[in-house]
Amino acid sequence: MPIQSATAFAPATVGNVGIGFDILGHTFPAIGDRVRAIRTAHPGVRIREITGIAADLPVEAARNTAGKAVLSLVESQALPFGIELAIEKGIPLGSGLGGSAASAVAAVVAANELLNQPLTRLELLKHAIQGEAVASGSLHADNISPSLFGGLVLTVGIDNPRIKQIPVPSGIRCVLVHPQFYLSTREARAMLNRDLPLSDVVWQTANLAGFLAGCYTNDLDLIRGAFEDVLIEPQRAGLIPGFAEVKRSAMEEGALGCSISGAGPSVFAWALESQSQAICAAMVRAFVRQGLACDQWIAPIGQEGARVVERQ
Ligand code: HSE
Repeated sequence: MPIQSATAFAPATVGNVGIGFDILGHTFPAIGDRVRAIRTAHPGVRIREITGIAADLPVEAARNTAGKAVLSLVESQALPFGIELAIEKGIPLGSGLGGSAASAVAAVVAANELLNQPLTRLELLKHAIQGEAVASGSLHADNISPSLFGGLVLTVGIDNPRIKQIPVPSGIRCVLVHPQFYLSTREARAMLNRDLPLSDVVWQTANLAGFLAGCYTNDLDLIRGAFEDVLIEPQRAGLIPGFAEVKRSAMEEGALGCSISGAGPSVFAWALESQSQAICAAMVRAFVRQGLACDQWIAPIGQEGARVVERQ
């Protein structure tokens, strides 16, 4: 008897991690999306339902990140049956926490299970990227890759992506504060200046290299010194009321670094476990002074990516 349905969970992500615009992200395991893929007699891909904390999403498969990703997967296979998707959102919409990526990733992992796993994770990545593009308007994998593979992940290339899981020094926590308002990823990308000073590009390159080297060598001072995103963060900071104060509060409490999670408005900080509670509280207070209510989480950089949680 073939599998009739499979459910997968895909974690939220911080992507980009400041200094690695569109190429570096990490898993944030505290929240995530679940997608159930159901075998149907009628060929094609349909969205059966969208539930959870962000149900107001397109139900036409080609316009939905999960639907588009599975359409891409199905087109690569000659399937004699169809697939319906039931999407349960656990990640707030427009939060900068990789919600569109998580739905796309959970959907392709669940669909692959339904087909008895014909595709590798790298092949699933290519289909999930197609889904992510529906939401953000461009192909990038800094949320998709960590949600699918787990950990702090560098993605090199798009057509033939290479994935590298970067070691994270032990004891690091990610503090995440989500001010409760919607920020359009598409708009936060469209407003970016494409022409940037060469000196800033050099500075950012050094920071990314230093950050990765610090991770490989457990050099927290190097990580702290390299954490600064000098290209994108200054352009987007104005989209988040109180961002400068939130960041200053985190750094004064001892954060290793603090930046915008993805396209925002969530703000994340890396911290030692012993300082993470105080850093989180200071960041929340700074947002509250702006009149913004927040969600807040503290979690390790998760090492586990998307997984099948149920099959029938
Ligand atoms: N790297 C992307 C950005 C993430 O910052 O625009 C959002 O999809």
